[in-house]
Amino acid sequence: MFDKLRIDSFSEYKKVYRESVEEPELFWAKVADDFIWHKKWDKTLEYSFEDANFKWFSGGKLNITENVLDRHVAIHPNKTAIIWEPNNPLEETRIITYRQLHSKVCQFANVLKNNGIVKGDRVCIYMPMIPELAIAMLACARIGAVHSIVFAGFSSAAIASRINDAQCKLLVTANEVYRGEKPINLKAICDEALKESPSIQTCIVYRRAIEPTSMVGGRDKFWMEEMHKVTDHCTPESMDAEDPLFILYTSGSTGKPKGMVHTIGGYLIETAYSFENIFQMQPNDIFWCTADIGWITGHSYIVYGPLACGATTVMFEGVPSYPDFGRFWEIVEKLKITHFYTAPTAIRSLAKEPLSFVEKYDLSSLKVLGSVGEPINEEAWHWYNDFIGKGNCPIVDTWWQTETGSILISPLAGITPTRPTFATLPLPGIQLVLMDEQGHEIETIAEKAEGKLAIKFPWPSMARTVYGDHERYKETYFSAYPGYYFTGDGAYRDAMGNYRITGRVDDVVIVSGHNLGTAPIENAINEHQDVAESAVVGYPHPIKGNALYAFVILQNNVEESDALMKEIKETVSKSIGAIAKPDKIQVVNGLPKTRSGKIMRRILRKIASGETDFGDTSTLLDPSVVKDIQEKVEQSK
Ligand code: WTA
Repeated sequence: MFDKLRIDSFSEYKKVYRESVEEPELFWAKVADDFIWHKKWDKTLEYSFEDANFKWFSGGKLNITENVLDRHVAIHPNKTAIIWEPNNPLEETRIITYRQLHSKVCQFANVLKNNGIVKGDRVCIYMPMIPELAIAMLACARIGAVHSIVFAGFSSAAIASRINDAQCKLLVTANEVYRGEKPINLKAICDEALKESPSIQTCIVYRRAIEPTSMVGGRDKFWMEEMHKVTDHCTPESMDAEDPLFILYTSGSTGKPKGMVHTIGGYLIETAYSFENIFQMQPNDIFWCTADIGWITGHSYIVYGPLACGATTVMFEGVPSYPDFGRFWEIVEKLKITHFYTAPTAIRSLAKEPLSFVEKYDLSSLKVLGSVGEPINEEAWHWYNDFIGKGNCPIVDTWWQTETGSILISPLAGITPTRPTFATLPLPGIQLVLMDEQGHEIETIAEKAEGKLAIKFPWPSMARTVYGDHERYKETYFSAYPGYYFTGDGAYRDAMGNYRITGRVDDVVIVSGHNLGTAPIENAINEHQDVAESAVVGYPHPIKGNALYAFVILQNNVEESDALMKEIKETVSKSIGAIAKPDKIQVVNGLPKTRSGKIMRRILRKIASGETDFGDTSTLLDPSVVKDIQEKVEQSK
């Protein structure tokens, strides 16, 4: 699509990268020029690291849906935009062309308008992986409403807190959905959430299953009935490049989740630019990202990036293990997938199953493989390369974050030399640095180095703030190293400048590629009446990458029992969602604390991973608790 912007050799990458660092504004202005604007921007970039204020292309007017839909309808209306693969293979695949998608998006945009939604309003979306999810989000963008998508595995309490934080006016959901063999009544979960979310005036329900659905008069409306009331003509709202496009919550080291706010212009341009160059698609290629749209990966690389580039993108409703562990490979064969993008957790869990699940299918359509969300270990990398790619498909290990909006470190497929477990080199426009223990840049690139990963210059798709809490944004990302964005990750750099991400250096744990803060899990555990205090840490897990270990102090006179452990897990499930349930709970008498009362998680992490060298424990208030915890852990093995 963006031929002018497409890098096609390694020497060209190096040249473009150099230019992008020498004159970043000129570089990004050239990229932005290839998009459809109602009015060109006044200033390419205005920023202050000190105040954590970043503005790209401000004064520029555009509508993102014209760039991802109208533009392609004009060139290739009958090209497939979305291929939808249902959970149950007996159900039919849906093919949606650019023209059809455009029409549905406009129609649903009119439904939103009919229900009182105007530019700037927040709309919460809690939906399964069906095309209507993409339609709902693009419909918001069409009229300038801000979508806040909540992953449909979160609990009612988690939905309510997100709705309340952003004061959403309308909620879009579905009635019931199957994930594998398990039915999940999304509408019932929403009903619970809505008891605690007074800002919601309307709830629109897509009937995914024929089961009867309880509807509240005046508030709840069926998707289909609302769609029948409107036309499919909807003039796109002219938005400022810096107007918000969406809010997406991500966990933090402390307290409640952070609503990361992404803005229209910069996000569009960089998701498209990165998609175009990393995946190197040809016009008839088919791209499948297995993530859920409820996470940033789905936002950027199922919907906005691929559609901005006029590509065909696949949405899969189901799970890799249903009806059996060959499901992914069956879909690759059936849809002739050329580009397959998944998470290391999925690779590891499929690699432990018999190879016959892979060998049954013809995977020869595959050209490029991708990995995202967590470090990919050597073994998984080789299995992916040998058995899925058959040694013929470059693997792009893509590093990025909810906060970065788009991929910042990755090989360009077939162009950048890859190295197992390395995300390799920064994309053009991305100025990475490693920080040493003293908080200084490790400057010599020609030597191996290890440090904390930070970014020295703004990039267009960076989140602009934490919704309603700019101080928290400033504090979390810009206070560790003044003048830099701090990622929260540690990284290793080889002498060629290739980066390997070593993992989080804060209290966020990546479990099966899901970003979980330990603080909200502890808060949830502490809500149980029998719990006095708790500390949660991550420990290495062969499939999930990391798993959660909870150390719990019970209230006086409470007896430890299996039933109680189960209840504690349920408390977490209710407050956050099943994904945050601890894998192990260890009852202890005390936690290792410093004199100022801070829990030394470093020590708990070591105990949880079975290590015995704890380093310096002299700052502990009571060093004997460590031995006590270790003994308890040993006893319970
Ligand atoms: C981790 C997901 C190693 C990292 C897109 C980051 C990775 C966090 C990689 C963000 C990768 C993501 N290699 N680690 N290729 N990609 N991570 O916000 O720790 O859900 O900080 O965004 O995932 O997770 P988030």
